[in-house]
Amino acid sequence: MKNLDALICINGKFTPPEEATVSVFDRGFLYGDSVYEVTLTYDKVPYLLETHLERLERSALGIGMELEWSADQIKDLIYRGLKEFDNDRLYIRIMVTRGCGEIGLDPSLSDGQNLYIIFRELKPQPKIYYIEGVSLITAGILRNPKKSVDPNVKSGNYLNNVLAISQAKEKGAYDAIMLNASGNVTESTTANIWIVENDTFITPPLEAGLLGGITRATLIEIAQKNDLPVKEENFTPERMRIAQEVFITSSTREVMPVTSVDGQGIGNSKPGEKTKALHNLYRQYIQENISQEKKKAPWNQD
Ligand code: PDD
Repeated sequence: MKNLDALICINGKFTPPEEATVSVFDRGFLYGDSVYEVTLTYDKVPYLLETHLERLERSALGIGMELEWSADQIKDLIYRGLKEFDNDRLYIRIMVTRGCGEIGLDPSLSDGQNLYIIFRELKPQPKIYYIEGVSLITAGILRNPKKSVDPNVKSGNYLNNVLAISQAKEKGAYDAIMLNASGNVTESTTANIWIVENDTFITPPLEAGLLGGITRATLIEIAQKNDLPVKEENFTPERMRIAQEVFITSSTREVMPVTSVDGQGIGNSKPGEKTKALHNLYRQYIQENISQEKKKAPWNQD
C-alpha cells in the first residue's frame, strides 16, 4: 500500500481508510471515553515517539484506564505502518478508547479497549503563518478546570475546544485563547501559549489547567540550556496584548508566531525576533533528535 494519503491500524490490523470502521458501541464514539496522542515524522522518523507514548499512558491512567498495549507493541505497529506508508512527512494519531460493550456510563461495561492509529500524509502549515504570524481571540468558553477532566490528560474530550475554535473562526481568527475560571490564560485549543515580556519567555504553569505540551517542555529545556530567560507564570489576555511577542507551540506547529490578539497588533505586528530565534533552536533540536533516532531505530531500514 504505497503512496496512500492515509493508512489505518485498528487493534493491530492495517486497513485502508475506506474500510476502517468504528463500532457505534465504542465508548470513544459514545462518550469521548478515550485518550490520544499526535506526533509527526521528520525524514520518516516519528518525533519523540517514546515521550508521546509515555504521555498516552499517563493520560489513560488519568481516566482510570491501564493501557492494554505496551509502548513497545504500539511502537512496533507504528514501525509496520511506516514501512507500509512510504512518505517522509506523516501525521500520526494514536487513540485508545475504553472499548465497546453494553450502553451505559459505567466503565466496567466495557469489553476491552480499542487501539486506533491513523497514518496520514502531513499537510504542512502554510508558510505564511510563520512569515506574517497568526491571530488569536479570547474565547468566551473556558478550558475545563483541573477538577473536571484534567486538561493535562490528553483525552478525547475536546468539545470546549471545538466551541472555542468556532468562536475564533466566526471572528476570522486563526485560533482561540482559552481562559480558566480565574480569568488567566491556559492555552489555545490545540497548542500552548507563550509571551515574551522584558526579554523573558513566559508560559502559564500546568496549575492554570492546560496540557503539558511536549513542545512546551522541550522549549523550556532549550531556553534554559541556552541561558535564555524563561519562566512559568500566569498571565491575562490583557498582558498578552501588550507583550513584546506572542507565540503558540505544538508538535504539529512547532513555534508559530502570533501577531494579533483580540484585534490588537503585537509589538510591530510582525513575528518576534526572539520567537524566530527560539524556533531555530527548536529546529536544531529536532534535527539532532532525528539523526539520533535514525541511528538506533529501524524506522527506515529495509
Ligand atoms: N495538540 N494543548 C492542547 C490542548 C493540545 O491539543 C496540544 C497538542 C498541545 C501541544 O502539545 P504538544 O506540544 O505535546 O504537541 C497543547 C495536538 C497537536 C493535536 O491535538 O492535534
